[in-house]
Amino acid sequence: MCGIIGINSSKPVSATIINSLKKLEYRGYDSAGIATLSSGLINEIKSEGRVDNLEKNSLVQSMEGTIGIGHVRWATHGSPNSINAHPHSSQNVSVVHNGIIENSTLLKKFLVSKGHKFKSQTDTEVIVHLITEHLKTENIVNSIKKTLKALHGSFALGILFKDEPDLIVGARRGSPLAVGYGPSENYLGSDSYALKSMTNKITYLNDGEFCIIKKDHVEFFNEDGTKINKKVLELSSEEEKYDKGDYKHFMAKEIEEQPITLKNGIKEYVDSANNNINIYNIPWKKNEINSITLIGCGTAYHSCLMAKYWFEELTSLDVNVDIASEFRYRKNRFKRDSLYVFVSQSGETADTYAALDLCNKNGMKTCAVVNVIESSIARDSEFVLPIHCGTEIGVASTKAFLGQILILYILALKFGSLRSDLDKEKLSAKLSDLKNLPKLVEQTLLTDNKIQNVSSTFNEAKGSMFLGRGFSYPIALEGALKLKELSYVHAEGYPAGEMKHGPLALIEEGMPVVVLAPRDNYYKKTISNMQEVIARGAKVLLITNKSTNEIVSENIWETIEVESTNQDLLPFLLTIPLQKLAYYAALKKGFDIDKPRNLAKSVTVE
Ligand code: AGP
Repeated sequence: MCGIIGINSSKPVSATIINSLKKLEYRGYDSAGIATLSSGLINEIKSEGRVDNLEKNSLVQSMEGTIGIGHVRWATHGSPNSINAHPHSSQNVSVVHNGIIENSTLLKKFLVSKGHKFKSQTDTEVIVHLITEHLKTENIVNSIKKTLKALHGSFALGILFKDEPDLIVGARRGSPLAVGYGPSENYLGSDSYALKSMTNKITYLNDGEFCIIKKDHVEFFNEDGTKINKKVLELSSEEEKYDKGDYKHFMAKEIEEQPITLKNGIKEYVDSANNNINIYNIPWKKNEINSITLIGCGTAYHSCLMAKYWFEELTSLDVNVDIASEFRYRKNRFKRDSLYVFVSQSGETADTYAALDLCNKNGMKTCAVVNVIESSIARDSEFVLPIHCGTEIGVASTKAFLGQILILYILALKFGSLRSDLDKEKLSAKLSDLKNLPKLVEQTLLTDNKIQNVSSTFNEAKGSMFLGRGFSYPIALEGALKLKELSYVHAEGYPAGEMKHGPLALIEEGMPVVVLAPRDNYYKKTISNMQEVIARGAKVLLITNKSTNEIVSENIWETIEVESTNQDLLPFLLTIPLQKLAYYAALKKGFDIDKPRNLAKSVTVE
């Protein structure tokens, strides 16, 4: 997942490109680069690491040219260094790319045989030389058309031409790409977030399409090179100027914002006056859906797993859950009466989008639960349920996770009530509890010191376990993922009841183990599992909810009590200390919390 920007203007573009690249760093930050056209030449400057490194290069400061492209990289082929950074250029063509060219080795062999010299280890560079080769005999449109046809795999491209100083070409297949319209300039960007600081008028390219961007107009083409018309969308400019404020990191801010974002979601979907649910426009009749398949990646997959427990509890629907990268290659038995739900914060995750695309191609019912409403997954789903969490910058998802499970919980209540699995009284009682959730999260957020104190133990250990049963199991997985992706130490989420079937062998003196044991139906069993690990020397951090009943166990290293509420909602509260545990562990290690190594916020490659 990389970030692309292109600007065709009547004024110098290098500074604006650099600023846009900073907004795109959530898509990748191994290296960055810029190319502009000036005095009949392609000027290319690239650097390893963050955009700041590129900006410090004095040559960038004095870079001329009113047309240019820029790129931030998350390495797929070739190590993250300045040679493999994009743009990649020949004398006549410069290219920035997001995606993976699967037949790059073959193409490279052909191009080398034609005398082309390669400088990098990237797949992208074959695109540069392929276009250069076609330009020897073809015009721009035909050169682009022929090049795209020869590429296997995914791409979002921005392309400059030395001999065409008034245009930028953009092309898309499998990786998102958008065009933005300015007063006397036009833009190309990986997504609307990159372009929003310059315009709110956006056109999204679909797979197979390409475009020619001039400073006063844009032409669109389908893969045959036929001109097509495209819609211009006006994006909501409600996006507040999102910055860290007084927080040290976006992640810290996003953890603390959760009471507000939950309140927004509840306001959007719960009709407080009538104690009912504001989801009216479901495009299918209730008897057309007898099962639900929930699909996502990473934290979004954990949201799906959490939803499975609620759908099973609240409805008579069959519920399946799948990791998107598995689902898309599985021999699927598509069912007409199944609803396929795609959960994704960014709405651009390649594996999740590919799973959606597969369902669309098989005529399935599709629903998206997303945070970015202009995203590809939202645009290509029949039914969209936005989570209304506002921009989430921290690569480690926090408020979006709670937003996803909130909407999925409400959807389960909706289906339960539509199918009369849930009577009015029960629904009303659950909605009343739900309305109180933001306040409980607020109170739970106050638990801070204890978590800070225990976090270094997790850093010093060679690994840790996160255990939970039932509703707490998906949260155990999520807590382990947070710690892994932020403090780079191994952590494993596991069903508490499964430890005795092997992983108990891992437990040794002093090993930190988080046990999620709220006073729900699984409490007693989980406490027994906790005692099994304590007996083998584990340092147990017990996370439970406040209760008058004493905890029947001793030798517990630390206990954190979250607020109490109906057991459906305890997963929301259990998540908070785990988010903070990961945050403080990473803080103590001095790692880059908002941009952990090797990761990116939106994984737009498979
Ligand atoms: C979560 O903290 C990670 N950043 C990652 O697992 C993420 O949830 C996953 O890549 C899915 O992203 P999406 O929600 O944008 O599809």
